[in-house]
Formats: sequence, C-alpha cells, structure tokens
Amino acid sequence: MAARHVKIIGPPGSGKGTQAMLVAEQLELRHLSTGDLLREAVSDGTELGQKAEEYMKAGLLVPDEIMLGLIREQLDVLEGGGWILDGFPRTLPQAETLAELLESKGLAIDMVLLIDVESEEIVGRLTSRRVCGDCKAVFNLSMLAEGDESACEKCGGKLITRPDDREETVRRRLKVYEEQTAPVLDFYRKSTGVTEVAGSGDIDEITAEIIRVMRG
Ligand code: AP5
Ligand code: MG
Repeated sequence: MAARHVKIIGPPGSGKGTQAMLVAEQLELRHLSTGDLLREAVSDGTELGQKAEEYMKAGLLVPDEIMLGLIREQLDVLEGGGWILDGFPRTLPQAETLAELLESKGLAIDMVLLIDVESEEIVGRLTSRRVCGDCKAVFNLSMLAEGDESACEKCGGKLITRPDDREETVRRRLKVYEEQTAPVLDFYRKSTGVTEVAGSGDIDEITAEIIRVMRG
C-alpha cells in the first residue's frame, strides 16, 4: 500500500514545500508545514508568532518547547487521515516526542523522504524565492513572467519575499540544518529508514519520482 504518513526532510531550499504541496494535491494528503504555521502566527500577531518571530528572522530554530506545543495542537489532524510533514521534526527531541505522540494514537511515520540539493544551488534558489501570502504556493523569480512578479498565478494573492531569505541568513540556516537536523536523519535511519530523492532538475519529474517511491 502507498505510504500515507510521510515526513519530508532536506536542507532549506531543497524543495520540501514545493514538492509536499504537489504530492499532497495529487494523492489527497494533508500538507502540514510548521514553517507555514509559524509564518501565519507571525502575520496574525498571536502569542506564538511573537515568540517565534525573532528566531525565524535570524535563521535559527524556534525552541523545542514552543514547537512541541504547536505539534500537540495538530494531533487531531494527524489522527484524521494521510499527511506529509514538512519542516517537523527537525531536532532529535522533536523526533522522539513525535514518535511517542503518534504511538499513543496507534500511528507512526511510514516513510521518510530526504530531498537533497547542493548548497550553492540552494543559495541561488532562496535569494530568488517568492511565496504567496494567501495560498502559500512557492515560486521562483526564474519561473515568473517579467512584469508579473507580484501576483500568485494560482490564487491571485500577493507574492512576498520571506525575511529569512537574505543570503547571510540562508547560509546560517544551512549551518543550523547540518548541526541540528542531521541527527534527526540518523534517528530515522535506525527506525523507519530514509529514502533519498535527488532534488535538482525538473520539478514535475521530481514529484513523479516521489509518488513512485511512495507507491513502493
Ligand atoms: P521552513 O519554512 O520549514 O524553512 P526551511 O526548512 O528553511 O525550508 P524552506 O521553506 O526555506 O525551503 P523548502 O525546502 O521548503 O524549499 P521550497 O519548496 O520553498 O522554516 C522556516 C523557519 O521556521 C526555520 O528557520 C525556523 O526558524 C522555524 N521552524 C519551522 N519549523 C521548525 C521546527 N520544527 N523547529 C524549530 N523551528 C522551526 O523551494 C525553494 C525555492 O526553490 C523556491 O523558489 C522554489 O520555487 C525553488 N525550487 C523548488 N524546486 C526546484 C527545482 N527542482 N529546481 C529549481 N528551483 C526549485
Ligand atoms: Mg518550505
């Protein structure tokens, strides 16, 4: 049976959001992105958003206790059907706690997909990324027609530049990934296993490859 409880992992800019959204649409899964949830909390000015904003702007991880509170709030969603987790867990304590929370509901992650892309390609991608403030679709200046760089082609929403996509912040996020998220991969290599998908090349071909491996 196709994997329906999937975690997508990879460095910032590897295409997690792009691919999770496309795969979730095609396989009718929920796309749960902690980055999107946090950015929404920041723009709504909630208590969570106020706590998280400075860390995000600096390219640092939001502390585990805040993230664990957020993920506990999403447990009902996790119980309700298939999903793709994007951006969580990304520290060892987050991975261990999520495994316990899922187990208490009789659930488990059944596939971990690693999308890998080389660092210099990532810096180029992120410094030219634009995201839709409404539907969260992800674009790149290289994909947008000249003169048409401010409106989302999916929903007409306003395209924005993420405040953490400045080059020096991107480089810090890459370092944070190596230091704090690489141990999460070891955790999954020892438990669920990790399936690697090459993240460079045509976006639709990468989506097709992900769906192929998910179908097993
Ligand atoms: P988050 O939003 O998760 O950011 P990230 O992990 O840094 O990843 P990105 O969203 O930058 O990249 P992506 O892999 O989704 O790539 P995308 O598809 O956009 O987290 C942001 C912050 O929130 C963190 O720094 C932290 O502060 C906080 N946070 C979130 N979760 C947390 C947690 N669990 N614990 C603690 N803190 C947490 O693509 C990138 C660009 O490349 C786009 O322009 C896209 O169009 C382009 N692109 C995609 N695929 C291709 C391709 N094949 N070829 C060419 N271009 C491509
Ligand atoms: Mg993303």
